Amino acid sequence: MSQNTFKAMVVTEGENNQFVKEIKDRAFDDLPPGDVLVNVKYSSLNYKDVLSTLGNRGVTKKYPHTPGIDAAGVVAESRSKDFNVGDEVIVTSYDLGMNTSGGFAQYIRVPADWVVKMPKGLSPRESMIFGTAGFTAALSVYRLVDYGATPDQGRILVSGATGGVGSVAVSILAKAGYDVTAVNGIIDEKDYLLDIGAKEVISIEEATDSSGKPLLKGLWAGGIDTIGGEILATMIKSIQQHGGVTCCGNVGSHELPLNVYPFILRGATLMGIDSQNCPMPLRLKVWDKIASDWKIERLERIATEVTLDELSARIEFVLQKKHKGRTVIRMPE
Ligand SMILES: NC(=O)c1ccc[n+]([C@@H]2O[C@H](COP(=O)([O-])OP(=O)(O)OC[C@H]3O[C@@H](n4cnc5c(N)ncnc54)[C@H](OP(=O)(O)O)[C@@H]3O)[C@@H](O)[C@H]2O)c1
Repeated sequence: MSQNTFKAMVVTEGENNQFVKEIKDRAFDDLPPGDVLVNVKYSSLNYKDVLSTLGNRGVTKKYPHTPGIDAAGVVAESRSKDFNVGDEVIVTSYDLGMNTSGGFAQYIRVPADWVVKMPKGLSPRESMIFGTAGFTAALSVYRLVDYGATPDQGRILVSGATGGVGSVAVSILAKAGYDVTAVNGIIDEKDYLLDIGAKEVISIEEATDSSGKPLLKGLWAGGIDTIGGEILATMIKSIQQHGGVTCCGNVGSHELPLNVYPFILRGATLMGIDSQNCPMPLRLKVWDKIASDWKIERLERIATEVTLDELSARIEFVLQKKHKGRTVIRMPE
């Protein structure tokens, strides 16, 4: 390498359990050993990154640390036969940005088996508009389709619809011909959701049953939940005969107050989504779908771009619950 240092966000633990975010110069020698050095062009902001910047030990144990669970860029050095210098690649999931120096930096060094070749039809920037949240949305749709959900069966309910996972799920389902009902409540964004493909928008109150009934009227052919708790329980109780629901998040609650009737009387199926440990063959299939059939036409509508210097302010925005869609981070040249 001709340069000795690179720019990165570094989170340090200060006094009284306060964590400080700064953009600093880091040395290449500080990066962990690995097969592939990637010159990161774009990263993206996920909820897990926000937790890492706050010092959440469930995400990151040791500080100083560079967060960023997503990165896309160009291979700068490779000891792997599968990747050559100059290849465009995506790295998401595994331990990136958790306890391995992450994508909020001009460079990452990672094992070759974490690296995905950029699928044809996708640029590094576009791949990061999807990022982990978008990949999770696509994986959720993939599971529903694989389960047998077809557009003629009825509406699909998506919760946390203005969020990263929700926005991409709404957009992909609409593109694939499904009628989508979006649950929106934290920020009022009905026009945004109709614009990205929802057929109708309902409130959190409408999506949350308080009657205590064990089963509700079968309204939805399928569901994609990001919230957990009462919203997920209501979604499962309101599923049509043999419908499927995916579960990936816990922004509302990690509890699931439910009974067995949706499963034994309606034949409902609950599908867990774990993008972090998604096996590589399935991972490649889902990225290929993202780059082709499910490539969202109005991708820019859900994206906001910030620089590495603007990232701290954007993280505050997420903490104030004002964020919608996906944030991509452009690295300095
Ligand atoms: N399992 C996996 O592999 C995986 C991967 C990625 C993400 N996740 C998880 O999926 C969840 C969503 O991620 P994301 O990136 O989409 O997050 P996000 O961008 O922060 O969006 C979450 C959305 O949920 C809604 N919301 C927020 N707080 C809520 C509350 N207290 N009660 C009900 N709704 C609330 C809001 O949408 P509205 O205003 O439209 O209601 C918000 O935009 C997170 O829990 C994340 O950790 C899991």
